[in-house]
Amino acid sequence: MVIFSGIQPTGRKHLGNYLGAITQYVEGQDRADPAIYCIVDLHATGVAYDPAALPGFVLDTTAMLLAAGLDPERCILFRQSDVKEHAELCWMLSSVTPYGDLQRMHQFKDKSAREQQLVRTSLFLYPVLQAADILLYRTDEVPVGEDQRQHVELAREIARRFNSTYADVLVEPEVRVPPVGARIMDLQDPTAKMSTTYGTDAGLVYIDDEADAIRRKLKRAQTDSGSEVVRGPDKAGVSNLIEILAVARGAAPEDVEREFGGQGYGAFKQAVGEAVVALLAPVRERYLELRADEAALESTLAAGADRARAIATGVMADVREVMGVGPRV
Ligand code: TYM
Repeated sequence: MVIFSGIQPTGRKHLGNYLGAITQYVEGQDRADPAIYCIVDLHATGVAYDPAALPGFVLDTTAMLLAAGLDPERCILFRQSDVKEHAELCWMLSSVTPYGDLQRMHQFKDKSAREQQLVRTSLFLYPVLQAADILLYRTDEVPVGEDQRQHVELAREIARRFNSTYADVLVEPEVRVPPVGARIMDLQDPTAKMSTTYGTDAGLVYIDDEADAIRRKLKRAQTDSGSEVVRGPDKAGVSNLIEILAVARGAAPEDVEREFGGQGYGAFKQAVGEAVVALLAPVRERYLELRADEAALESTLAAGADRARAIATGVMADVREVMGVGPRV
């Protein structure tokens, strides 16, 4: 079984990325053959960005994933732009992607509305490049958070349309969204998802935040006027904290509700803070160590790209052949 997922190298990654996606990547290493994880630097060029900072962001994300438990012996970890077939397959797949489907993508609608100067065609094509990432490895399963579900469903439709238009050479992937922690919300505005692009510093816990910053942010997290530690539609803040504690401890949300039922928000928020610190402090420590050795990170990525390319070139040859692109074979 092939597992594939991608992550953007946009600055620092946060608790939502960690609980919704990265823990699934780590777990996937034991189930997949192979588990493939890609740092998607080409996707990062779809909005205004700093070209001088991007290579360093890729190394930040690489070190973060290794610190969280990815093991290059048990997975393929690489940088998207090192395997040129991603861009090539994106173009090929755009021939079976309806324009209207791309206009309906939530992420395109949100991000294009917020871009001040220029809505880039690459932002519009973003989901097609994401489909290329996935389909290039004949992926069976794609672990992501809830916000990426629509993109993976589009990748399924693109695979289906490609196979029925040309020939059956691509695999329709399944999306894997965790039952708890798939949509971690902003600590200051629990009606919005935790996001580096739109959130404020106080609303986000970064994976490499210091312990005291994590404690402070959770202590100040927005709750509601009640005092019951239970999930509910009018209790977005508390529901979010219950989910965070449940995933951080590997427990069920019901267990958290039972344990903190009789206690007020103060003790509960403190427990969430301690659990998140216990989860992230070792990751931060390993991150700082790994991040210091850029040559080692680059060589991990280069070795990963060689392994990824070995798979990608075979699939790409099939795609070119059935599309009639290139010399007759
Ligand atoms: P990115 O880099 O924004 O996020 C990486 C992963 O983190 C998940 N995530 C969350 N999970 C829970 N709560 C949150 N608040 C939260 N915020 C983010 C995301 O769902 C994602 O799984 N388009 C992708 C990158 C990508 C990709 C791919 C993913 C490119 N190609 C192919 C899967 C397969 C993205 O921007 O993720």
